[in-house]
Amino acid sequence: MTELADLGVTGLAVMGANLARNAARKGLRVAVHNRSNERTEHLLAEHGHEGAFVGTRSVEEFVAALSKPRAIIIMVKAGQPTDDVIAELVPHLDEGDIIVDGGNALFSDTRRRERELAARNILFVGMGISGGEEGALEGPSMMPGGAKAAWERIAPMVTKMAVSVDGTPCCAHMGPDGAGHYVKMVHNGIEYADMQLIAEAYDLMRTVYGMKAKEIAEVFATWNTGDLDSYLIEITAIVLAKQDAATGSALVDMIRDEAEQKGTGRWTAQSALELGVPITAITEAVFARALSGRPAQRAAAAKALSHAPMAQRKAGPAEIAMIRDALYASKIVAYAQGFEQLEVASKQYGWDLDLGLIATIWRGGCIIRAAFLDRIKEGYASHADAPSLLLQPYFRDGVLKAEQAWRDVVILAVQSGVAVPAFASCLAYFDGLRRERGPANLLQGLRDYFGAHTYRRFDKEGTFHTRWPQDGSEVEV
Ligand code: 6PG
Repeated sequence: MTELADLGVTGLAVMGANLARNAARKGLRVAVHNRSNERTEHLLAEHGHEGAFVGTRSVEEFVAALSKPRAIIIMVKAGQPTDDVIAELVPHLDEGDIIVDGGNALFSDTRRRERELAARNILFVGMGISGGEEGALEGPSMMPGGAKAAWERIAPMVTKMAVSVDGTPCCAHMGPDGAGHYVKMVHNGIEYADMQLIAEAYDLMRTVYGMKAKEIAEVFATWNTGDLDSYLIEITAIVLAKQDAATGSALVDMIRDEAEQKGTGRWTAQSALELGVPITAITEAVFARALSGRPAQRAAAAKALSHAPMAQRKAGPAEIAMIRDALYASKIVAYAQGFEQLEVASKQYGWDLDLGLIATIWRGGCIIRAAFLDRIKEGYASHADAPSLLLQPYFRDGVLKAEQAWRDVVILAVQSGVAVPAFASCLAYFDGLRRERGPANLLQGLRDYFGAHTYRRFDKEGTFHTRWPQDGSEVEV
């Protein structure tokens, strides 16, 4: 009889296949399965020599190939396909077996699945995995949620598969039920904001300063050596520098400006709206993608609403530094908002998320990995009680230093007619946050006028209503 496998992976498209290869390369015995056998055979033929694989041709065979309690990672499309695979597996499983969903599932689905499977004594782990295809193979950042017992069983395997930074694996138990997928969702939301900010910086250099893609690539390559040092800045330089083989121009100039999305950014914004957390950068990034996806409407508007050609400006080191500062300050705001969303969701769903730990496991493997995350990790270690990431000394000082340039960039963009929704909304958030008194007093007055919604006063306790249209007197309610 063949030796039983430590881990099963079902769903062998690129992410699943790479994850299975990663596990096998780390010395785990991996049973592999896919609905159509071709993928399984292809994996074994191409990569079977990389480690101990057990190829299986049916769900029964797959489940029987695993040592108990079984640990099965499913890597299929989020939504119904995930439910379908679970339904196929469950009749063959025993109590105490573990199903790990490594897809980008909606956290509320994960909560439901966890509850339903717990009723059958099957443990369900919703595990966010970030790092794309290469990360899945070489070592991703992994964000598992679910019962502690499941984590204890899978930890020795998944921490081996994750990348490590300074000897610490980028994989840790996030919290119960949907916590892991929620953290991954917010990771993706931050990824959206980060990319939108980068695109706006690029647009300013291209449109206001007339710089060529190649020149902008050099700017990003330089930025990658400072505070902005990150995977996304690094690959921005690479993408901008790439020449199109067919035309000889910069490839980026040949790519249509219509961004697509699979949904995690939108989910982040939806959840934030439900929780009442102001994540303006992420939400603007989602809207910017939506606007980009309306090319016909934009073409019509470009004709009907055209503006005078812009006086071309020249970018010197001061102008480039100004854009860099605006990007950095906005990025701090975007992360501060994302972490606040995690904090609020943690309270709402009873997850007890450890924000410092999340920053720790985002330092490597994932798409938003950055030197910056080290600072966030340190910030949570030393100033955990700051009411916002933005108020931790390191980030507060960074934003204050960049503030003037940030304003100048937003003014320049507004004057030039270049849309910078993420830069501008981050700045608006910053200005709104640091004002002890905003204009919501007037909103309250208006609400009370038309709907008797009441208001509270600075000078005394209680809730009040003014009889506006009647005699104008105030009553305590
Ligand atoms: C990751 C990525 C990954 C995926 C995004 C793309 O962390 O590895 O975020 O999950 O590439 O979901 O999202 P959009 O298609 O919505 O841009």
